[in-house]
Amino acid sequence: MHERKDVVSSPCQPAANKPQLTLRFKIDEKDFLIAGESASKTKKALQQLGLKQEIVKNIAIIVYEAAMNIVIHSNHGEIKIIIAPNQVVVLSEDVGEGIPDIELAMKEGYSTAPNEVREMGFGAGMGLPNIKQCSNELDIKTTVGLGTTLRATIYLNPADTKQVETGTMYV
Ligand SMILES: Nc1ncnc2c1ncn2[C@@H]1O[C@H](COP(=O)(O)OP(=O)(O)OP(=O)(O)O)[C@@H](O)[C@H]1O
Ligand SMILES: [Mg+2]
Repeated sequence: MHERKDVVSSPCQPAANKPQLTLRFKIDEKDFLIAGESASKTKKALQQLGLKQEIVKNIAIIVYEAAMNIVIHSNHGEIKIIIAPNQVVVLSEDVGEGIPDIELAMKEGYSTAPNEVREMGFGAGMGLPNIKQCSNELDIKTTVGLGTTLRATIYLNPADTKQVETGTMYV
C-alpha cells in the first residue's frame, strides 16, 4: 500500500526554531584580534548559507561587539552562533565581573573601559547600543562577580536561507 507520508509527517518538521548549525568561538582575555576573526568567520559562514547581506552584516556586528566586550570587560568566555531555519541566536557567555547596572551600561557613551583600552580606540560606550540596534531581541543576564550572558536573536525570513545543513561547518 502506498505510504501516506504527507499525513504522518508533521508540517513543523524540522522545527523552525530548532538549531541546525552552531558556530563556536572561545574568547580569551586581552585577545584583541579574536573579535575581528570571529566576526569575519561568522560572516563567511552565513554568506555560504545564503542569508541576506543586511542580516549577515548585523550578525557580524553583534559577534564583534560581544567578543570585544568579553576581551575588554571580562576574564574569558565563549560565543555561539546558533543557526535555525527561522532565526539566528548569538549567545555570549563570560566569566568575569558582570554588569552592576544594565540600564546604565546600555546608554550610548557609557563606558568603564580603562585608559589603555581607550588609547587603542575602543571604549566609546557604543557596543551594547549597537548590538541592540542590530538584533530583534536582546536579553542580558548578569551576576556581579560571576559573569554575563548576552542573547541576541535575529529573525529570518525562511525564504532568505538555503537549506541549513546539520552539523559542523569549517569556516
Ligand atoms: N561582558 C561584560 N562584562 C562586564 N561588563 C560589561 C560587559 N559588556 C559590557 N560591559 C559594561 O557595559 C559598558 C558598556 O558596554 P559597551 O559595549 O556599550 O561599551 P564599551 O565596551 O565600554 O565601549 P565600545 O563597545 O564602544 O568599545 C562597558 O563599559 C562595561 O562597563
Ligand atoms: Mg563594548
